[in-house]
Amino acid sequence: MTPDVTDGAVTGMAGTGDRNGARETGKSIDTLAIRDLRLRFRGYTETTTVLHGISMRVAPEQRVALVGESGSGKTVIARAILGLLQLLPGAIVNGDIDFEGQDLTGLTTRAWRRLRGVRMSMIFQDPTSSLNPVFTIGEQFHEVHRRADPAIRRSVSGDRAAAILEEVSITEPDRVLESYPFQLSGGMNQRVMIAMAMANEPALLIADEPGTALDVTVQDQTLRLMRRLVDSHRTSVLFISHNLGVVREFADRVYVIYQGRIVEEGPSAAIFRDPRHAYTQALMAAAPRITGGGIPDVSEDEPAFLAPREVHPPEPTPTGDG
Ligand SMILES: Nc1ncnc2c1ncn2[C@@H]1O[C@H](COP(=O)(O)OP(=O)(O)OP(=O)(O)O)[C@@H](O)[C@H]1O
Ligand SMILES: [Mg+2]
Repeated sequence: MTPDVTDGAVTGMAGTGDRNGARETGKSIDTLAIRDLRLRFRGYTETTTVLHGISMRVAPEQRVALVGESGSGKTVIARAILGLLQLLPGAIVNGDIDFEGQDLTGLTTRAWRRLRGVRMSMIFQDPTSSLNPVFTIGEQFHEVHRRADPAIRRSVSGDRAAAILEEVSITEPDRVLESYPFQLSGGMNQRVMIAMAMANEPALLIADEPGTALDVTVQDQTLRLMRRLVDSHRTSVLFISHNLGVVREFADRVYVIYQGRIVEEGPSAAIFRDPRHAYTQALMAAAPRITGGGIPDVSEDEPAFLAPREVHPPEPTPTGDG
C-alpha cells in the first residue's frame, strides 16, 4: 500500500496545466478523483486481484481517456465509479472514489442510484444493453428525466428530449420519440443513447467503447456528435477505448492501463509524442493495425511492462498561472 508519490505532483498541477487549450479550471474541485482503487474477486477456490491500486483524476470539463488491452480492467473501473461493481457478490472493492468533492465510499445503494443517470451517466458499447426494447424512446426519456425530477410532466420531458435529440442531429425527434428501439437503426439508437445519457446534464459522462458495435463510418460520426454535445454542455468525460486513433483525437489526458495497473499517464499530446512505458510503445507501434477492436499481441511476461508508472509533466499553459 505504498502511496504513489508521483500522484501528488500531478494532482497539484494538472488542473491548470494539462489541458490543451484549456479553459482555466483553477482551484476547482475535481469532477472525479480515484485513489488507490483495488479490486479482487472472490472465487470458489481462490481470490483474483483485478485492480492493483488505481489512481486517476478527471478535472471539470476535461476529457480523459483510459486505454489498455482487453481484460486490463477498464470496464470494472467504470462500474466502480457508478457503484455497480460494489453490488456484485464476490467483488471486494477498496480505495477512495471522490465525485464532485463527495466521497462515494460507503454510499448507500439508494444514494448511488440518485447519482447515476443524474450527475454521472454512462454510454455502453452496445445500445441494446441500455435501451429497453418494450418502451418507446419517449417513455425512456421520461423515465430518465424523472430520476432528476420525479414530478416532471410527460410533455415537459418530451420537449426536453426533442431538444437534446436535435443536438445529436436527429431531424425528426417527434417521430423518434414515438418509436421503439427496434424501429431505429443501430446508429440512430446510439445517438439516442448519447442524448439520453446527457439528458440530465451530468457532470461526468463515462463512455465505454462507444460505438464499437457499429461500422467505422457510423462510429466516427457518433463520436463526433458526442464530442460536440459534451463540449457545448461542458461535461467531463471518461472515455474508455483501445482505439488509439480515437483517443488521440478526443482526449486531453490519457491513462494507460496494463493488467490492472496504470503504467503511464499524461497529457494526450505528450503521450503520443513520447510514449515512455514499454507497453504504451507497443500499443503505439501496433496502432495502425487497430481499427475498432484489434489489440496488439504483446508478450505478457515482458519484464519492462512491469516497470514503474510513467508520469508526464503537465504541458505548460499558454497563459501561465503563476
Ligand atoms: N464479475 C466478475 N467476476 C470475476 N472476474 C471478473 C468479473 N468482471 C470482470 N472480471 C475480470 O476482471 C478483469 C477486467 O475486466 P474488464 O471487463 O474490466 O476488462 P476490460 O479492460 O474492460 O476489457 P475489454 O477491453 O475486453 O472490455 C478481467 O480479467 C475479467 O475477467
Ligand atoms: Mg470493457
